[in-house]
Amino acid sequence: LITDVRLRRVLDSRGNATVEADVLTESGGFGRGKAPSGASTGEYEAIELPATEAIANAREDAIPRLVGEVHAGNQRDVDAALHAADGTDDFSGIGANSAVAISMAAAKAGADVLGAPLYQHLGGTFRGNEYPTPLGNIIGGGEHAADATNIQEFLAAPVGAPSVEEAVFANAAVHQEVHDILADRDLPAGKGDEGAWAPSVSDDEAFEIMDEAVETVADDFGFAIAFGLDVAGAELYDADEDGYVYDDGVKSTAEQIDYIAEKVEEYDLVYVEDPLDENDYEAFADLTDRVGDQTLVCGDDLFVTNVERLQAGISAGAGNSILIKPNQIGTLTDAVDAIELATESGYESVVSHRSGETEDTTIAHLAVATDAPFIKTGAVGGERTAKLNELIRIEDNAV
Ligand code: PGA
Ligand code: ZN
Repeated sequence: LITDVRLRRVLDSRGNATVEADVLTESGGFGRGKAPSGASTGEYEAIELPATEAIANAREDAIPRLVGEVHAGNQRDVDAALHAADGTDDFSGIGANSAVAISMAAAKAGADVLGAPLYQHLGGTFRGNEYPTPLGNIIGGGEHAADATNIQEFLAAPVGAPSVEEAVFANAAVHQEVHDILADRDLPAGKGDEGAWAPSVSDDEAFEIMDEAVETVADDFGFAIAFGLDVAGAELYDADEDGYVYDDGVKSTAEQIDYIAEKVEEYDLVYVEDPLDENDYEAFADLTDRVGDQTLVCGDDLFVTNVERLQAGISAGAGNSILIKPNQIGTLTDAVDAIELATESGYESVVSHRSGETEDTTIAHLAVATDAPFIKTGAVGGERTAKLNELIRIEDNAV
């Protein structure tokens, strides 16, 4: 039984305030969770409140429904109590940031009581033998960095890696290789919010640089490394222009579909996230018809980890995979429900960080617990390596 829930304000990777939750149980269990925060957030995401407000509201409404009432090990009860305390359909009452921090803290307390790794508590005893391929953010712009590429993320995908450990090191090597290529071309670059290089180059040049870097590192490491994109299409789409606004002009929806399909062909992209606007199921379906057997067409802002939006997408044939971000929907239960619907419907799940992150490692465990084929959690930087290093430990049976 939960005996105490403590909430506090802590820093995230951008230096903003976020919510940290501690959950304590009668039998001495302890868990701590921290909420991440997006910058290119989807229109339909659960609502993040200012941290102080989220904490005040959760103290008033959620904690009384948890303490002395619910077992930390029963995740569905914990998350149902959070929904009941909130009373809205978008967590605007207690804040999705308070909700997700408490949900993750309770899961860890539940695992602690069992003396089991979190992935096993969440996924069961037969989990922990398959590991996700990490998608590493190498070059980026969009809402994550000024004066860089229009496409938000160019992601290395070490699809041939024999282990998580090798895959994680391959992504770091691609990141380093891109640094060297940029230096050779006299293109100084800072980093965006997720640690990706943010050079002032055209999208076309970024494609070339990625292609060169993954090939070089693939040769060094001796296994295949592909790459993919998070276009963050909703951020490029402008309804007034009726198209996707790039530095070099506006593309109509039909042109955007052609552009992405051509890039998939030219570079053998294995992954394209949010290639189109978050309201355009039809365009997603058109692109999926064209390239869905060659690449993952993934909905992030399109689906926002929401089973209803995913169901609409499945019915429309929009995409063939879903990005899973627990804070987009507010609880681990909701996130797992989305993964289960995806799996039943032949959609792949890609578990993901946010651009604003913390040292929390829950998503590494969630990916292993659900046999997700991919995890997107950066390539470098402490808040990203927290998850990547946890995956290495999980693979090494050291958690
Ligand atoms: P966000 O970006 O966390 O800023 O929303 C990540 C993504 O779009 O996948
Ligand atoms: Zn995205």
